[in-house]
Amino acid sequence: MNTVRFFSKSTMKPICRILLFSRNPPFINPNSQPHADPFRIIGSRRIIFNTHKVFRLPSLGFGQPMALTRPNNGFGTTPSRGAFVISRVASFSTTVETRVNENNFERIYVQGGGGVGVKPLVVERIDKDENIVGEDESRIEVNGGSDVNLGNSEGLCESVVAREESVVEKEAWELLREAVVTYCGSPVGTVAARDPSDNQMLNYDQVFIRDFVPSALAFLLKGEGEIVRNFLLHTLQLQSWEKTVDCYSPGQGLMPASFKVRIVPLDENKHEEVLDPDFGESAIGRVAPVDSGLWWIILLRAYGKLTGDYALQERVDVQTGLKMILNLCLTDGFDMFPSLLVTDGSCMIDRRMGIHGHPLEIQALFYSALRCSREMLAVNDGSQNLVRAINNRLSALSFHIREYYWVDMKKINEIYRYKTEEYSMDAINKFNIYPEQIPSWLMDWIPEDGGYMMGNLQPAHMDFRFFTLGNLWSIVSSLGTPKQNAAILNFIEAKWDDLVGHMPLKICYPALENEEWRIITGSDPKNTPWSYHNGGSWPTLLWQFTLACIKMGRFELAQNAVALAEKRLSGDRWPEYYDTRTGRFIGKQARYFQTWTITGFLASKMLLENPEKASLLFWEEDYELLEICVCALSKSGRKKCSRFAAKSQILV
Ligand code: GLC
Repeated sequence: MNTVRFFSKSTMKPICRILLFSRNPPFINPNSQPHADPFRIIGSRRIIFNTHKVFRLPSLGFGQPMALTRPNNGFGTTPSRGAFVISRVASFSTTVETRVNENNFERIYVQGGGGVGVKPLVVERIDKDENIVGEDESRIEVNGGSDVNLGNSEGLCESVVAREESVVEKEAWELLREAVVTYCGSPVGTVAARDPSDNQMLNYDQVFIRDFVPSALAFLLKGEGEIVRNFLLHTLQLQSWEKTVDCYSPGQGLMPASFKVRIVPLDENKHEEVLDPDFGESAIGRVAPVDSGLWWIILLRAYGKLTGDYALQERVDVQTGLKMILNLCLTDGFDMFPSLLVTDGSCMIDRRMGIHGHPLEIQALFYSALRCSREMLAVNDGSQNLVRAINNRLSALSFHIREYYWVDMKKINEIYRYKTEEYSMDAINKFNIYPEQIPSWLMDWIPEDGGYMMGNLQPAHMDFRFFTLGNLWSIVSSLGTPKQNAAILNFIEAKWDDLVGHMPLKICYPALENEEWRIITGSDPKNTPWSYHNGGSWPTLLWQFTLACIKMGRFELAQNAVALAEKRLSGDRWPEYYDTRTGRFIGKQARYFQTWTITGFLASKMLLENPEKASLLFWEEDYELLEICVCALSKSGRKKCSRFAAKSQILV
């Protein structure tokens, strides 16, 4: 196992105690004595009121079964130093099991007791010496003593941009650095927006998981890994282990939508910092941040690829967090599809927009996260079933999306002629789609060449809207076939005025108007037609477009889009989004100095200049996955497997 410690080069003395975490409102244990123990952990209210939990890892290839305890109320474990303790554990009571089909791929045991008899095995911590502030170098000692430098570019990104940055880029970097949030003196993320004219910040002063991803990429591409590493480890500590919204458990493994560093006053004019996560229980509409965990996994892989520091993803606590997210996503429910069933607003579009069910954005991120996990999960006896479940799901999910979500001229014509009410395994119109559902805008809009993945698919329901993020991630992760991926970019090119217009890129097309807007958004005044999530244009989508273009060898498309953004963003004060059909106006309620607008631009620039680095962030077709089919229908001979009966060319 790897033990990671931060040291000051000058004193080699760890200083800041770490990983205080809490929920809203921050809770201070009244019994605690703040300064008695320099490594005291402050628990949160939810933790205080819940039993101490020990999570047992059956076997992770590190010898004895181990348990990972998360710090809680300070009574139970006595974390001698640092964030959490990994302990050998005796037997214990409650078992939380997650099942995938017949196979238990992971068991996470929750101990009811107080951690009695728990013998610390390894203590991991993140420490930051005050003396190190201002120095350009920090070191991480990774177990056997090999040092990974995270404070500057050496040993990380060899091809750090050599070109002189433009004025706009320089400004963007300055703004990005101002957006950095520190915790115990270490950078841990970036705020969503820093708009001085805004007197109603809502939660824009928080670090959002999804918003931080382009910030992370900008830092990583510049050779600065520390903030990303800290972010990954601190958000891991915030991962849900117990009840959140209205006394109902959303399931272990949920990652928060965002977090905030709160300053909590203590006695004698002293104060303390606590991390306060939001799992949606404070968010407008109480939306579940399904995408957070998926982004966390995607970022974990990107961090390893771009820094070469693979030790982070190998850590036991990181592997456990990864498995918890996967368990949550792969748990059986009532759903029949391999796609992930979610509520409305569970991703970047975090308001009611009629995307409940199986929205493409979640499916594409889910697929990407599964591909990441396949690379990162330590394979051993304890993870075998999980690995199998991942492979099966990847295979089924790509078949499902390629076959049923694809829209092009030919497919629309097929749907147009569909017979309905077919009852049989051989049905062509499996989801009983009434041809009248094809919207008139689509009949005129669909070009002869090119196509895209539709927004959502449910029984008797196809959402034909074009959702940009999901389509871009279908390309990046190879969720689509090579042909489909190329066709999606051709489509965006053909529909440039609609999807890029004056500002890249439309979040979705077209906007919901009139009755549809009233019924589907619930008359949402923020999501009026061609504004915000309802057909607004979001510059942050640029980096994902750039990545997709680089993958498909379409550099010129990305360059054109970046040039459009570069012309306007700085003068417009880096708005969150743009309004109108072609993105001409700054969004009605858009924040200025929105961090992921700034970093979407910066990351795009850097990706274009470092295509070899960009290539570490996307995936090619995996032919092995195409071979897998687990439905067993063909073997029984009783029923036909759709996969083999599929008419269209889904495989290549
Ligand atoms: C809005 C966006 C969401 C974003 C957040 C912070 O709620 O819809 O995607 O993460 O703002 O920028």
